Amino acid sequence: MRQILGISAGVVATVSLIIAGFTFNQANQEQLALSSDLQYRTRVLADSLKDSVEPSLASRSTSTTQRIVDRLSANERIAGLGVFDSSGEAVAISKSFPTGLERRTLVENAMDQDTSLGAFMQSSAGNVYVFIDVLHQDDHVVGALALVQSASYIDAAIARIWTDNALRLILQLFLFGAAIFVLVKWVFLQPIQQLSEAMRLARRGEPVPEKNHVSGLFNPLNTEISKITASLRQARAVASEEARMRLEQIDSPWTAERLKEFIKTSARGRPIFVVSNREPYVHDMINGEIKYRVPAGGAVTALESVMHAAQGTWLAHGSGTADKEAADKDGKIRVPPDEPQYTLKRLWLQKEDVDGYYNGFSNEALWPLCHMAHVRPLFRKEDWTAYRKVNGEFAKSLLSEIRGVERPLILVQDYHLALLPALVKSSRPDAKVAIFWHIPWPSAESFSICPWRKEILQGMLGADLIGFHTQQYCNNFLDTVGSELESRIDYERFSIFQAGHEAQVKPFPISIAFPGTAEPKTGANKNVLENLGIRSPYLALGVDRLDYTKGILERLRGVEFFFDKHPTYREKLTFLQISSPTRESVAKYKEYSKEVSAEAERINQKFGTRSWRPVVLEKRTYSHRELLELYELAHACLVTSLHDGMNLVAKEYVAARTKEDGVLILSMFAGASRDLRGALLVNPYSAEETADALYSAITMSKSEQHRRMKSMRDSVQDYNIYRWAAELIKTLATLG
Ligand code: G6P
Repeated sequence: MRQILGISAGVVATVSLIIAGFTFNQANQEQLALSSDLQYRTRVLADSLKDSVEPSLASRSTSTTQRIVDRLSANERIAGLGVFDSSGEAVAISKSFPTGLERRTLVENAMDQDTSLGAFMQSSAGNVYVFIDVLHQDDHVVGALALVQSASYIDAAIARIWTDNALRLILQLFLFGAAIFVLVKWVFLQPIQQLSEAMRLARRGEPVPEKNHVSGLFNPLNTEISKITASLRQARAVASEEARMRLEQIDSPWTAERLKEFIKTSARGRPIFVVSNREPYVHDMINGEIKYRVPAGGAVTALESVMHAAQGTWLAHGSGTADKEAADKDGKIRVPPDEPQYTLKRLWLQKEDVDGYYNGFSNEALWPLCHMAHVRPLFRKEDWTAYRKVNGEFAKSLLSEIRGVERPLILVQDYHLALLPALVKSSRPDAKVAIFWHIPWPSAESFSICPWRKEILQGMLGADLIGFHTQQYCNNFLDTVGSELESRIDYERFSIFQAGHEAQVKPFPISIAFPGTAEPKTGANKNVLENLGIRSPYLALGVDRLDYTKGILERLRGVEFFFDKHPTYREKLTFLQISSPTRESVAKYKEYSKEVSAEAERINQKFGTRSWRPVVLEKRTYSHRELLELYELAHACLVTSLHDGMNLVAKEYVAARTKEDGVLILSMFAGASRDLRGALLVNPYSAEETADALYSAITMSKSEQHRRMKSMRDSVQDYNIYRWAAELIKTLATLG
């Protein structure tokens, strides 16, 4: 629209200038023509009047002259007539003679030069033409005759030319403007929009409907688009065929394509439903505009890649301020918003229910209970009630979604929805339900402090498959069930039989999309660091949600220990901590965020110099793209969780190190420590161990970095998110 207005304004200005130029010229010519006509007519009239006046002036009869002047001026309808003697004094003057005329000099000049003179002048009657004719007697100058003719009709004619042309201009501009608008919109903009829609469809491998074919100027592009669509379709078919063939070859890496093919064969067309509390895309209203963001958090990151391949439906709580506006009346929206691949169905929850179910029971009871990060779980009856209620609402929404769908595969995610499997299975025994627990499972003894432990276990045991990240968590779960419920546990098959239903318990170490759809770009932009004021030669990085389980405070103490022990590294190394705000309505998180800032500040006060801050703390959510750049620039990445189900930041750092250098410092209490054997393992509670690991990382030889990094990259590539999903889905689909 802005372009159309710009073009129209340009045309309007040009046309206005041209017409103004023409009008000026036309007005000039008209003025010249009318003026010379008036001059000519006045001269002829003056000559004829002169003959009547000369004799009376000769007879020196003033009264006769006055009479003649009055008669002539009345007859000829002239603006004024005057007769003057040889000294320039008026002898007779008509009543209508305009006042305020500067005629004296003109009269005297004419008599001095003995020639007739004329001039346009301003008078009380407006613009007039004054013509002076010299009167003679016997060849002597005896006076002069002044004839005044009105010239205001000339001004009127000129003004008319300007108004006529201005009106014409306005009309033309209106017509021109409308024509340009129509031309640009229909001839250019509309076809360009059709073209971009056609390209979008082509990119997604969808047929381009007739209505998206461009016409007119851009017509030749239709053929090209058809060719591109055909080539893309062919390339996709080849990729799909290759992926199908690779299914047989167990060693080849898992990719999105391979997972897609795998789901087709192993799930045999059974639709897949993912259910989680957190949604993968949140729409918010920002300054009156709807914008979306991808929330921080491991589960969402991992499952998003799976859904691209599975293309099913994802049911989640719609928590964004503009989620309702962005979705349809059923709360559904195709995502990713820029390139839709699957359906996100949003579930609407009451604010007070979210307080109890999410902030309360999920994050103040289950989260600390499972993480053992020395934060006391808060068990409130009202939170538990809200938790049960919301799990019921998820069940209701899911059941309506799978109505009419035969034997659906349902992947329930995480500790927010522990009761969902049993609720769904009791209504739909044909559905195959898996629950994947993204956080650790504590020892039976730790779990026993939960007042509603039995209900939680029974809810989970409704599932056909219960997944954890590690074998240790599976063992803990089996022990917990053993000590809490009447059940039979088959340790050979890792199954729990309870109330006639079998639930299998298995580890599925979650991972990331590696190789990703877009390989990390090499040669990260160093301005990123410059913008953060980081100029030191070494960079150590931490990336976490601002969560007390992540051990950010402990990590900062490790960094402090490092600078205390190795002062030569002051000003040479900066520790950058990216902390995305999280669960800000939970008191413990607010407190933690303040503590982290204070600790960073304290260390900066202790070691900082004018040009160097040892700790740079960024409290905002970085996009995947931004993080990728930082991963590429960091010599070491510190993941020092006090307890962590898996920790995907560790795997993302490894995936980003395409040059196979850099060092990962990893907590021995993170699930990822089981998979990433090349990391420097630390006990995060020991600042000294963290400091030593940081020192080893910075001084490590390139060859050792390479050896360690390569082994970690191989392991992430071997067990990436596609394989995780494939194993989970295959296990679930084959459970009868
Ligand atoms: C943990 C959970 C994830 C969740 C993430 C973010 O990693 O296991 O399921 O996505 O925290 O937490 P949030 O409360 O923001 O969903």
